[in-house]
Amino acid sequence: MEYLDFAETLAKSAGSLIMKRMEEPIAAEEKSSSFDVVTEVDKEVEQWIRESINNHFPEHHFLGEEEAYVSGQSLQSVLSEAVKKPFLWIVDPIDGTSNFVQGIPGFTVSIALAVKGELTVGAVYDPCAGELFSAVKGGGAFLNGRPLHVSVKERLNESVVATGFPSDMPSRMAVYSGLGNLLQQCRTIRSLGSAARHLAYVAAGRLDGFWENGLKCWDMAAGVLLVQEAGGHVTDCSGGQYQLAASDIVSSNGRIHDLLLDCVE
Ligand code: IPD
Ligand code: CA
Repeated sequence: MEYLDFAETLAKSAGSLIMKRMEEPIAAEEKSSSFDVVTEVDKEVEQWIRESINNHFPEHHFLGEEEAYVSGQSLQSVLSEAVKKPFLWIVDPIDGTSNFVQGIPGFTVSIALAVKGELTVGAVYDPCAGELFSAVKGGGAFLNGRPLHVSVKERLNESVVATGFPSDMPSRMAVYSGLGNLLQQCRTIRSLGSAARHLAYVAAGRLDGFWENGLKCWDMAAGVLLVQEAGGHVTDCSGGQYQLAASDIVSSNGRIHDLLLDCVE
């Protein structure tokens, strides 16, 4: 519980920092392309989270979106080393930076702890809504302290699923293809701008499923544990077991999982 409490407090404090910075105009910089943006707030908040973890747990390791981007190393090589660490914090300071720069609510702070490569704690905080989603391995998933459960829908035509639009074009086109199939079968589809929030909403039963191609571990890690602990299912887009190094994800209440996979594989 020590790590869960710590992650929850950290996510909420980081959310308060972001909300304060939202009062001023924020410039977006292009990262890998014009479809991929970052702001000084992403970098400052990530640095603050990193220092807080380092102050409390100096022996723990850290993997953050902005630092990983600057390091220039491939994510696969960073991750193959990182997952061997006894304690690895995986952080996205702002998941949904495009929402943030446009002034659209619904970006989140995503913080996960992997112990020897196994997801153990996850916290996703939506500071605009004041909603803290958290989970601990084997201990359940919670929204502001209340237990969460996935939905019980069994058919796609009664299901609401979500997706996002990744920055790299092959992944975007893969999403487009899944979208074409699912639009013919699902009740409706949402795209709320934060993969971590989509996963948290699957855990909460607000969404029945979520898929996306071309994500990174910091977009997914905390949310994956939320879905698993709320009784849902998470795989890659081929139905294989979710791994920290995965970039494609299908998550659901479990009951519609195979139907969803048929549409996005
Ligand atoms: C993005 C968000 C978005 C998803 C993109 C991600 P970022 O993360 O999760 O929902 O569609 O693929 O890159 O860049 O805002 O941290
Ligand atoms: Ca981010």
